[in-house]
Amino acid sequence: MQYGRFDDARREYVITTPRTPLPWINYLGSEEFFTILSNTAGGYSFYRDARLRRLTRYRYNNAPLDQEGFHVYIRDGETVWNPGWQPTQTELDRYECRHGLGYTLIEGGKNGVLARQELLVPQGDNCLLMRLTLRNESGAAKRLRVFPYVEFCLWDAMDDSSNFQRNFSTGEVEVVGPAIYHKTEYRERRDHYAVFWADRQPDAFDTARDAFLGVYGSPARPEAVFGGGCTGSLAHGWQPVAAQQFDLPLAPGAEETILFGLGYIENPAAEKFTAPGVVNKSRAEAMMARYADAASFDAALEALRGHWSALLGGFQVSTGEAKLDRMVNIWNQYQCMVTFNMSRSASYFESGMGRGMGFRDSCQDLLGFVHMIPERARQRILDIAATQFPDGSAYHQYQPLTKKGNLAVGSGFNDDPLWLIAGTDAYLRETGDWSILDELCDFDNDPQLAQPLLEHLRRSFRYTCTHLGPHGLPLIGRADWNDCLNLNCFSEHPGESFQITGPSEGPVAESVFIAGMFVKYGRAWAAICRHLGLDAEAAEAETAIADMEKTVLDAGWDGEWFRRAYDAFGHVIGGRECEEGQIFIEPQGMCVMAGIGKESGEAARALRSVEERLDTKYGIVLLQPAYTRYHLELGEISSYPPGYKENAGIFCHNNPWIVCAETELGHGDRAFEVYRRTCPAFIEDISEIHRTEPYVYSQMVAGRDAPSFGEGKNSWLTGTAAWTFLSVSQAILGVKPTLDGLAIDPCVPADVKGFSVVRRYRGAEYRIRVENPDGVQKGVRRMLVDGKAADGNLIPVQPAGSVVEVLVTMG
Ligand code: GLC
Ligand code: GLC
Repeated sequence: MQYGRFDDARREYVITTPRTPLPWINYLGSEEFFTILSNTAGGYSFYRDARLRRLTRYRYNNAPLDQEGFHVYIRDGETVWNPGWQPTQTELDRYECRHGLGYTLIEGGKNGVLARQELLVPQGDNCLLMRLTLRNESGAAKRLRVFPYVEFCLWDAMDDSSNFQRNFSTGEVEVVGPAIYHKTEYRERRDHYAVFWADRQPDAFDTARDAFLGVYGSPARPEAVFGGGCTGSLAHGWQPVAAQQFDLPLAPGAEETILFGLGYIENPAAEKFTAPGVVNKSRAEAMMARYADAASFDAALEALRGHWSALLGGFQVSTGEAKLDRMVNIWNQYQCMVTFNMSRSASYFESGMGRGMGFRDSCQDLLGFVHMIPERARQRILDIAATQFPDGSAYHQYQPLTKKGNLAVGSGFNDDPLWLIAGTDAYLRETGDWSILDELCDFDNDPQLAQPLLEHLRRSFRYTCTHLGPHGLPLIGRADWNDCLNLNCFSEHPGESFQITGPSEGPVAESVFIAGMFVKYGRAWAAICRHLGLDAEAAEAETAIADMEKTVLDAGWDGEWFRRAYDAFGHVIGGRECEEGQIFIEPQGMCVMAGIGKESGEAARALRSVEERLDTKYGIVLLQPAYTRYHLELGEISSYPPGYKENAGIFCHNNPWIVCAETELGHGDRAFEVYRRTCPAFIEDISEIHRTEPYVYSQMVAGRDAPSFGEGKNSWLTGTAAWTFLSVSQAILGVKPTLDGLAIDPCVPADVKGFSVVRRYRGAEYRIRVENPDGVQKGVRRMLVDGKAADGNLIPVQPAGSVVEVLVTMG
């Protein structure tokens, strides 16, 4: 069942009922001010940090769900309704929500009145704009009462939701004309306040929640709206809000527009006040002046469209398969940018109060956005590298605001160092900017310890070489990519973190997955060395890699698939002899991507085992059989009920590894089939089962062992975005950035006749046409670059500014 449809021409997803299986959200803002917004106008705003600078409140596990946000109430006679249905849930005569790139448009109609609520965060400014348009289509005169409403958060979202003994006494506001200033804590240490405003004087307002909703009222039934209107309340402590009332007579056919804003303002310390206790409002007034007329909204919308066209224009495909095109051209890239902005901080599943930036997460996210924003990717790499320790290990997380490693989580995740090579290698292949390797980066955020980035990569590589276990495989530490395989943890007490309990330096537990990574990204490291003329170092690395390949094919091979790990007692994990957890997806994907066993047949055998044992109609599950009881020696993975998360869920992130692996072996039909099964646009028609947004990936889909098989969770902020984009753009469509230029190496289903890609690369535009006259799955027979036959399938780097025509014939 579908709850909407794609509108590709406008780059929007159109939701046609407010009763989606879960709130379906969008992200507004791509610089410093952000708003998360659902299809019924739920959500919240924050400035830079969803925990420390939260402007408005949101309650995650509340019932009814999703009732805080940017709602507008319309009272028409005795009927009260919202254009987005929530929170009153009054049945609408019509409803539509269009989530676009950086903006959302919600339209509702009731009793002959049409209300359109458009929201966006303008480029270059720290505010949310909301334009409300009301049209009387009823043929009779109307007297409407219109109430916008937001509930302020007292800035630190964690403190706001727990420290009531203090917070119920600190709230302060000022009201000046159509502007409501939220200034809690401004009198003391804060240099910032929030302002909610309208472009005209309201007839009344409230700033105390008790007054607007009623002490025992609710967003679904605000007393002021259902009763006699706003009362001019001024919040002193308790819950500051911004509510306004507009009495609007609307003649038949008439239309009214009101522009609202929610802004974040910072003042230098010396300019905080204009008089004792009076907030300096000049910056807020300047902001309001920027959006004084409705046309300014249109201009901001135009600017946003231009911004996104430019970003997405770097990779556009035309295959004749609309679902594929819309994911590649619009939504997958959009999601990659959202993961760049948010990392794993704020979504409808991430509270904004938990994790900062993950070392491995951020390195992988880079793989998906580096082609759109290479300059910002460059800075991200340097920030990440500065949280690495001198021995090559790394803080597992860092705080975006301070860019400092997070002590509470610390280090010891032994895959982390290798992901830095992965991210930097992707940057080099994309940009050819070798100067990044000379940049001085701190170790452990200590400028005294700064070394060129190249040295960081070297220590990443060596970290694995110097942390090998009894079989010669890499030690796993606290965990590898699978955060829930905690082989040195042995946690017996509820509430202990699986990630930081127990020693990180277990000298026995080993990871075949990290071994695969070492081979794959070690090759990248060796290639970088060769490119720099460090031949001896490259040769040394290649020897270590060749040894590791042998070790994997020996201690890491189970006969029909790659093993997953050895536990702290040296027992096999992910092998035939295991009762539960016999086969895991991760080493099959990573080892085959690394090319291990490609010549000798193990690679193909491993992928067949995946198909035989892990395939489901909704994607490939992480392991089988699922763990049915808690295994002390395995940790968090066995804490989840069977079929959820890492315990045999369909962890979407590693499905694209199988896609990439299949293309290594030339299996285009199978690669596309794996891609299709988790791809949101291809499963739009099972939205009642999948439940999460059909325009973005979710971290996890419940596996076949779960009662809710097929149900998605944790949409938006997942490494799935980057990896699926990489798998489809580079492995399937075959447009591969290399250190020496763009290589074209498609691996497609045999019935694909051809496709075209426009790719921006190092300042030039490549117009690539691929034809497949013989119906092969892989192989390039001939390539013409600007009409001239090329040597092989590598396009030499073309001058910036040029437009290059490339014709590729498969066969
Ligand atoms: C989550 C984490 C990621 C981890 C994965 C598997 O997506 O953000 O770091 O690799 O889970 O455990
Ligand atoms: C990853 C896993 C999750 C685990 C978390 C711990 O996000 O997906 O299951 O709880 O890491 O930090």
